[in-house]
Amino acid sequence: MTGRLAGKVALISGGAEGLGAATARAFVREGARVMLGDIQLDKAKALARELGEAADAILLDVTLPDSWETAVEATLRSFGKLNILVNNAGISEPGTVSEVAKEAWARTMRINLDGVFHGTQAALPAMVAAGESGSIVNLSSMLALRPGAIFAAYCASKAAVAMLTKCTALECAAKAWPIRANSVHPGAIETPMLERYLAMNPEMSREQAYAGFAASHPMGRCGKPEEIAAACLFLASDEASFTTGTELTVDGGGFIREH
Ligand SMILES: NC(=O)c1ccc[n+]([C@@H]2O[C@H](COP(=O)([O-])OP(=O)(O)OC[C@H]3O[C@@H](n4cnc5c(N)ncnc54)[C@H](O)[C@@H]3O)[C@@H](O)[C@H]2O)c1
Repeated sequence: MTGRLAGKVALISGGAEGLGAATARAFVREGARVMLGDIQLDKAKALARELGEAADAILLDVTLPDSWETAVEATLRSFGKLNILVNNAGISEPGTVSEVAKEAWARTMRINLDGVFHGTQAALPAMVAAGESGSIVNLSSMLALRPGAIFAAYCASKAAVAMLTKCTALECAAKAWPIRANSVHPGAIETPMLERYLAMNPEMSREQAYAGFAASHPMGRCGKPEEIAAACLFLASDEASFTTGTELTVDGGGFIREH
C-alpha cells in the first residue's frame, strides 16, 4: 500500500459530512483505513460505502464516554488497531455572553470540549497499544485565537480545546508515547455548518451573507473543506513527526488581520 498514511488506521468523529467527511476522503486517498463516527449514522454509512473497504461507520455521540468506547472497539474489530484520532465533531450556536441560552452554552461545552476529552481518553490506550507512531488532531477554530462577541460559547469551547490539545501533547511526550497532538484552527469553511449561518438572516441573500464572512479573511474568501483536510492530513502523517502541541491556523489570514 502506498500513500502518506499507508498502513494507518484513523477514527474521525463527525465524519458524516463537512470537514470530517473531507478529511476521511483525504485519509483514504493516502492509504489509511478510516472509521467514521457520527450521530448521523445513515450519512456516515453512505460515505463509508462510497469509500469502499477502507472505510466503515459507527454510531458515535461524542458526549457519551460509553459511545466512544464502542467506537474504539469497533475500529479495532474492523481494522485491527488505531493510530489516528481526529476529534472533529462540533457545533456552533450564536449568542453573546449576556444572551446565550444556558442550555446552548452547556450543549456547546458538552460536544465541543467534553467530546474531545472523552474521545482522547477513550482512544489513547488503543493508540499506545498499537506500538506505532500516532497522532491526535483536534478541530479548534480561528475563533479560539481571536474573539467573536456573538460566538461566546463557541470561542470559549474552542480555546479550551487548544489548551487541552497542548496538555495531551505534553503527557504523551512525558510518557514517551509515540503520539503527537495538535489543533487545527480553520476560518469560515464552506460546510453545512457555514451554510446554516448563511441561511440564518432571511433579509440577506446567501451571496450577501457569504460576502460578510469572506470579508473577515484577508484572502477575501471562505475556505474549502479540502483545505482543512490537507492540514489534518499533514498533522496526522509522519511528515509532522516533530510537530506536537502546535496551533495550525488555516484561515486565509483571518487570525492575523489588523481589524
Ligand atoms: N465550517 C467552519 O467554518 C468551521 C470553522 C472553524 C472550525 N470548525 C470546526 O470544524 C469541525 C467540523 O465542522 P463542520 O463545518 O464540518 O461542521 P458540520 O456541522 O458541517 O458537520 C459536523 C458533523 O459533526 C456531527 N456531530 C454533531 N454533533 C455530534 C455528536 N454529539 N457526536 C458525533 N457527531 C456529531 C454532525 O452530525 C456532522 O456530521 C467542528 O468542530 C467545527 O467547530 C468549522
